[in-house]
Amino acid sequence: MKIEEVRSTTKAQRVAAHSHVKGLGLDDSGLAIDVAAGLVGQKAAREAAGIIVDLINSKRMAGRALLMAGPPGTGKTAIALAIAQELGNKVPFCPMVGSEVYSSEIKKTEVLMENFRRAIGLRIKEVKEIYEGEVTEITPVESENPMGGYGKTTTHVAVGLKTARGLKKLKLDPTIFESIQKEKVTVGDVIYIEANSGAVKRQGRCDNYATEFDLEAEEYVPLPKGDVHKKKEIVQDVTLHDLDVANAKPQGGQDILSIMSMLIKPKKTEITDKLRKEINKVVNKYIDQGIAELVPGVLFIDEVHMLDIECFTYLHRALESSIAPIVIFATNRGRCPIRGAEDIISPHGIPVDLLDRLMIIRTLPYSSAEMIQILKIRATVEGINIDEESLLALGEIGVKTTLRYAVQLLSPASLLAKVSGRTSVKKQDVEEICGLFRDAKSSAKLLLAQSDKYLK
Ligand SMILES: Nc1ncnc2c1ncn2[C@@H]1O[C@H](COP(=O)(O)OP(=O)(O)OP(=O)(O)O)[C@@H](O)[C@H]1O
Ligand SMILES: [Mg+2]
Repeated sequence: MKIEEVRSTTKAQRVAAHSHVKGLGLDDSGLAIDVAAGLVGQKAAREAAGIIVDLINSKRMAGRALLMAGPPGTGKTAIALAIAQELGNKVPFCPMVGSEVYSSEIKKTEVLMENFRRAIGLRIKEVKEIYEGEVTEITPVESENPMGGYGKTTTHVAVGLKTARGLKKLKLDPTIFESIQKEKVTVGDVIYIEANSGAVKRQGRCDNYATEFDLEAEEYVPLPKGDVHKKKEIVQDVTLHDLDVANAKPQGGQDILSIMSMLIKPKKTEITDKLRKEINKVVNKYIDQGIAELVPGVLFIDEVHMLDIECFTYLHRALESSIAPIVIFATNRGRCPIRGAEDIISPHGIPVDLLDRLMIIRTLPYSSAEMIQILKIRATVEGINIDEESLLALGEIGVKTTLRYAVQLLSPASLLAKVSGRTSVKKQDVEEICGLFRDAKSSAKLLLAQSDKYLK
């Protein structure tokens, strides 16, 4: 099994609407602070979520499932993403939306299985022979094309690596140069190169450069101690899905496999059940030998009522398996039919036997004061100037409709203000916007009142 070349396949998260959420905002004793980490109110749900984070961190939560239930716009998705922030990047968090399972190319259960495996981490510790240091130079050395003809070819790359102990110049293969480019290594970064495989890993920017002005959040690491060439315990965090992908795709280039490769024939093109079983077997062996440690992460299935009975059955069974993540569901549905079994009406559209094993966190509607707070935070994040009076008006709209709807009105209102040559949103903009758009509830009312005018 290849682990050297495993690239993380973390999914991009749906965060645009939740970019202000930085965590659960709890104090040391686990109590929710009124306004903290971007979150406002909803204290009981946040505190419950904090307990879940503790359980996950102490590894007592695997194979369990949680349901966030509450009316639309009450912060279910926001709190789930806050859980992800609290867990940090060492614990895998895989977000998905129920409707993602419906694809014409992939089976529903296959989509679920893939996401399941994205949510299960493996921490592998291996002692490896490496070259490590701060990069002092990367110079491709070219020569005339030996085959005659035009152009030059890169014969090797000169890379300088510096540690506290000294400096070493390495002459590297062009294939390693490719890996260096892929990792976007520049002079001043701390990297290591594995002696056996030639795999390159960028650890971060050397902290000698920590005063550099840069906007991106950079990870700074100290200048490595010891020699450039050494043996070191390397810790790799991968997910089972990363392993599936790395072992399924036939890859060119540095095709040097780790010890695991004896057990699994490479050159597969597809992730099959068989491949997964083989990987599980090797993973279990690694765990038994103490080389690897399982890190159960979180699979977050938003809008879970979109799943059908087949998916629920599959999930229920998967939760029973020995390697299972924590699953967090979210839904805004009350009693409704289960998809695929429309004759069964069930709470939240979830089969009762699955419901029975869930812990449920409820989210409650916000007061207008809380909505105004949240709107204020969103306005700051989106760079919108808005006066108190307009916030008050938007808060009222939020109470009548949903928070999400009120948040959505911020950008169009600021656009109106701009058109009128103002830099700040005024109440008249909010009022004008309300005249232009309808929220779901009032639109439904209108439909009912004028039903004779619409096609049926
Ligand atoms: N307590 C809160 N503090 C700060 N922002 C919040 C809070 N609750 C919700 N929000 C923000 O309000 C908007 C709507 O919330 P969110 O999408 O989390 O609701 P939801 O419960 O998932 O709704 P739905 O059932 O429609 O999916 C988002 O932009 C979210 O980030
Ligand atoms: Mg949601």
